[in-house]
Amino acid sequence: MRVHRGICAKLQGGFLRRWWAAVSCGILLIILAAVLAVLFPNLINLILDKELTIREGGRAFKFWKQPPVVPRMQIYIYNVTNADEFLNNGEKPALQELGPYVYEQRWEKVDIKFNDNGTVTYKVKKTFIFNSDLSSGSDDDLVVVPNVPMLSATSQSKHAARFLRLAMASIMDILKIKPFVEVSVDQLLWGYDDPLLKLAKDVVPKEQKLPYDQFGLLYGKNATGTDLYTMFTGSTDITKFGLMDRWNGKDALGHWTTKECDSIMGTDGSIFPPHITKQTVLKVFEKDLCRTLPLVYQREVIAAGGVPGYRFAPPTNVFTSVENMASQQCYCPAGPPCAPEGTFNVSLCQYDSPVLITFPHFYLADPALREAVTGISPPDPEKHQLYIDVQPIMGMAMKARARVQINLAVSQVRDIKQVASFPDIIFPIMWFEDCVDELPPEMRSLLKLAVELPPVAHAAVSGALAVIGAIVLLGALMCLARAAKRQEKLHLSNPLPANATNTKTGQLNPAFSK
Ligand SMILES: *[C@@H]1O[C@H](CO)[C@@H](O)[C@H](O)[C@H]1NC(C)=O
Ligand SMILES: *[C@@H]1O[C@H](CO)[C@@H](O)[C@H](O)[C@H]1NC(C)=O
Ligand SMILES: *[C@@H]1O[C@H](CO)[C@@H](O)[C@H](O)[C@H]1NC(C)=O
Ligand SMILES: *[C@@H]1O[C@H](CO)[C@@H](O)[C@H](O)[C@H]1NC(C)=O
Repeated sequence: MRVHRGICAKLQGGFLRRWWAAVSCGILLIILAAVLAVLFPNLINLILDKELTIREGGRAFKFWKQPPVVPRMQIYIYNVTNADEFLNNGEKPALQELGPYVYEQRWEKVDIKFNDNGTVTYKVKKTFIFNSDLSSGSDDDLVVVPNVPMLSATSQSKHAARFLRLAMASIMDILKIKPFVEVSVDQLLWGYDDPLLKLAKDVVPKEQKLPYDQFGLLYGKNATGTDLYTMFTGSTDITKFGLMDRWNGKDALGHWTTKECDSIMGTDGSIFPPHITKQTVLKVFEKDLCRTLPLVYQREVIAAGGVPGYRFAPPTNVFTSVENMASQQCYCPAGPPCAPEGTFNVSLCQYDSPVLITFPHFYLADPALREAVTGISPPDPEKHQLYIDVQPIMGMAMKARARVQINLAVSQVRDIKQVASFPDIIFPIMWFEDCVDELPPEMRSLLKLAVELPPVAHAAVSGALAVIGAIVLLGALMCLARAAKRQEKLHLSNPLPANATNTKTGQLNPAFSK
């Protein structure tokens, strides 16, 4: 009671003598709390966006330059077990799915150069190391697969002059080139000497030359950064954060017939513009896919470490045929005929090799494609769908399965005797999944903080301000009431002549108080 009196006395004295100063102070604090409660999310977003921006020395820059993750490339190869029967007796190709052959990767951005206009130019260096412990099989395993360089050449010669095809047949005879090759997994992926490519390198005029004389499905991709990317850092416009501005100096692929289809305005799949909603369409640009891939919301997920996120996957009609969706016409500049349902023709990005991309096991594609061969089980979305789990507020990928199957669209060419019995077929060769599974603890805790801290801080800051405001307001009102009461008492019991009180001490004259 004494203490209380003391505070009140102090409040009434000094600079808060005028009671309303304390009251308005309390009210002000409460208003401030309310304003903060409304504006806080925007404030947090501002700070977050600033933090995300890629700039030299920034926290995000470190993670971007050398992601502290170990992505795995898991490769499955379709081994052909009846090559002779297929060619001689017209049997369906019998395939045996081998793998996974697992390569651990290191991703690094090199030759980084910041531009003045809010972009950064860089190359990506990916290093692949075979991991035999995680693999089921060795990279020395011998596999039988279609001879891609040969079948590309023969399929392309379909519309050439007949004498050219005959010449091709005799060259292939001399070089003993066969429609199937037996190579090791390591060779198939990373390159082996191909007589046809070597020949082409020696005889074809310089400007039409293929850039290499070895063939491998991932040839030249290990530990090299060949493509030059220019990406928006988010410093000028956070809604463009991570999007490609240019690829090898070009702002479009230059293969497709509409601006939208030809655009490279997508991210690399590891980061996205922040503040993702369930309506957002994410875009990923992958030069080997020869397009940007749209991704749409699928469902809510909980990633490792308990961070909640959204799963995004390509819409089911992403590779649908022109017959089913006229807008796909942009991807078929030479057609018709265009690529069949569920396949995507990337030959323009593969030196005109007749390569078709599908999802593994022909997921979402015409079932007839899978039934044209034996040994491929029906597709299962759990195992064969491509998806990315993102943290929606920061737009960061937390888990990814980039799954793609590579197929060769072989055309029958009767003039070339080696392949005369090779029918028109979409021949699956292999599929792979690029997996990012778990972010390292330091990144996970940062994500978790960014997700969990704002609401807590939000509640804490505005709550604390409101409580302080209320206490000040209440205190001031109480002191006020007390002061008023005392004043009242004085007035009631003291209708006095001025000299009846000891004005110095404020104490009543004992004579009158009785
Ligand atoms: C692939 O198939 C061939 C038969 O065409 C067989 O000899 C070979 O052992 C198979 N490879 C593996 C790794 O099983
Ligand atoms: C930004 O600058 C780089 C390098 O000068 C250039 O290649 C790029 O086209 C520019 N981008 C924009 C959007 O202006
Ligand atoms: C990739 O390159 C690295 C280093 O240059 C090497 O150690 C590794 O064995 C290569 N990987 C493959 C699959 O060739
Ligand atoms: C793929 O595209 C190329 C080039 O546009 C074209 O010549 C070829 O016929 C297409 N293949 C299929 C199967 O649509």
